[in-house]
Amino acid sequence: MTVEIQKKLAGEAAALRVESGMVVGLGTGSTAAWFVKALAARGLTGLRCVPTSEATAELARDLGLPLSTLEDTPRLDLTVDGADEVGPGLALIKGGGAALLREKLVWEASARCIVIADAAKVVPVLGAFALPIEVVAFGHKTTANRILDVLTDHDIAMPARVRQAERGLVRTDGGNLIYDARCGAIHDPVRLADDLKLVTGVVEHGLFLDLADEAIIGLDSGVDILLP
Ligand code: A5P
Repeated sequence: MTVEIQKKLAGEAAALRVESGMVVGLGTGSTAAWFVKALAARGLTGLRCVPTSEATAELARDLGLPLSTLEDTPRLDLTVDGADEVGPGLALIKGGGAALLREKLVWEASARCIVIADAAKVVPVLGAFALPIEVVAFGHKTTANRILDVLTDHDIAMPARVRQAERGLVRTDGGNLIYDARCGAIHDPVRLADDLKLVTGVVEHGLFLDLADEAIIGLDSGVDILLP
């Protein structure tokens, strides 16, 4: 319950950063959902909202927020989104909700990005949370072998595991698969990010580096602000 209160406080604080007329990126996940609800409650005019997943689109639509797409609004003023880990310099792991590709596309199109999270998400070193890696389904086991080569080169012994749901493999909104890499500790996130992107078949990974401008961390009462 405490965690939910922290997420709610962070989402509500972020909603106060939005002004009428803005183009706003809507993140995905339980924390981002608090932001979406708080934003809708503000009743601002002239907003255009770009959701990062079908789930967020549905929530925003139900709440009456005006939706747009990255195609129709390729430049955003602000994106607010959750994270699985918030590390030093506001380096992030994202993708626990399998929306990392759309999230990163929207983040990179935004003039400003705010990450919102509960206090437990703040870590001294990234990697305790398994790093999500989105891969195309075709030949994914071959791609997984090449991901293992990269991980081994980074002294990460565990192979990435394909994400399963009750009824089979998890599919992203784009129809791809997710591999989760239990890294333990990521000592060089920049090099790991670069190396993963070089693997054919990898569409995107959950390392969000140099993208967050500010973190709003929910506490039991109030929020803490972190800057890169
Ligand atoms: C979605 O793919 C993720 O990047 C989420 O933003 C992240 O997993 C945080 O989710 P919660 O806010 O539900 O913890």
